[in-house]
Amino acid sequence: MKMTELPIVEGLVRLCADGWQQGWHERNGGNVTYRLTREEIEAARIRLTRLPGEWKALGISLPELGGEWFLATGSGKFFRNVPLCPEDALCLVELNEAGDSWRLRWGLCNGGKPTSELAAHLLNHSVRKAATGGACRVMYHAHPAHIVALTFLEELTDKAISRALWQSETEAPMVFPGGVGVVGCMVPGSMELARASSEKMKEYDAVVWAHHGLFASGPDFDTAFGLMHTVEKAAQVRVLVTNAGGARQQITDEEIRAIAEGCGVQIREEFLL
Ligand code: 13P
Ligand code: ZN
Repeated sequence: MKMTELPIVEGLVRLCADGWQQGWHERNGGNVTYRLTREEIEAARIRLTRLPGEWKALGISLPELGGEWFLATGSGKFFRNVPLCPEDALCLVELNEAGDSWRLRWGLCNGGKPTSELAAHLLNHSVRKAATGGACRVMYHAHPAHIVALTFLEELTDKAISRALWQSETEAPMVFPGGVGVVGCMVPGSMELARASSEKMKEYDAVVWAHHGLFASGPDFDTAFGLMHTVEKAAQVRVLVTNAGGARQQITDEEIRAIAEGCGVQIREEFLL
């Protein structure tokens, strides 16, 4: 079995292809990382054909992720090209025990480096790994147009954006009853954005990046992709209704509570009136 036939590589390639088809990844927009299990590291290790790359400083220290391996998209790689040549567009990265350096184990066969948002991904992995008892493994960043549009229409607070989404589609309070975090407009790839996101990730499994996109996490590719899709769909309905002249009615706070209760999830009550 080749590296590209490993289920985790196939899963990540499929997510990239699906995200591209949704229109969420213009050019090189977006990035994904997956934190491997011990078994997946061993399955990958025996298929490696190259010597490891040089250790490179991360610029941050995350000992809680020491020794972990991550499958990631490469910086500047176009999502639409990922299925054509995963060995070029993707990479497998190993962190040292101190969690302050990384080295390349596979991928980027034509050169390059991991996503420019690697610091954000790793900080978020660290926070979500702790928050979920190790269950969270996927970080997915995309540029869906309607969630970006919503950040021009609504107040940029966790409460305003979460409530606007819940009010727009009954699926929203079911899929993200905890709401979404929101960070302001910051330089892509910056440590400021990485740190602000990971602060929000302590409480939320998805964070809206104002005028930029969305960061969604989950235990597997389906859950992270599904969260991205559901947030974006609710944003799309909100924007469609706004475009059509505004809502005559919307899902009320009482209805949001009833939906959450009906499917046995805990709604973040302080976001309701
Ligand atoms: P990368 O190509 O470096 O992953 O950057 C894309 C992006 O969306 C930055 O926020
Ligand atoms: Zn981006």
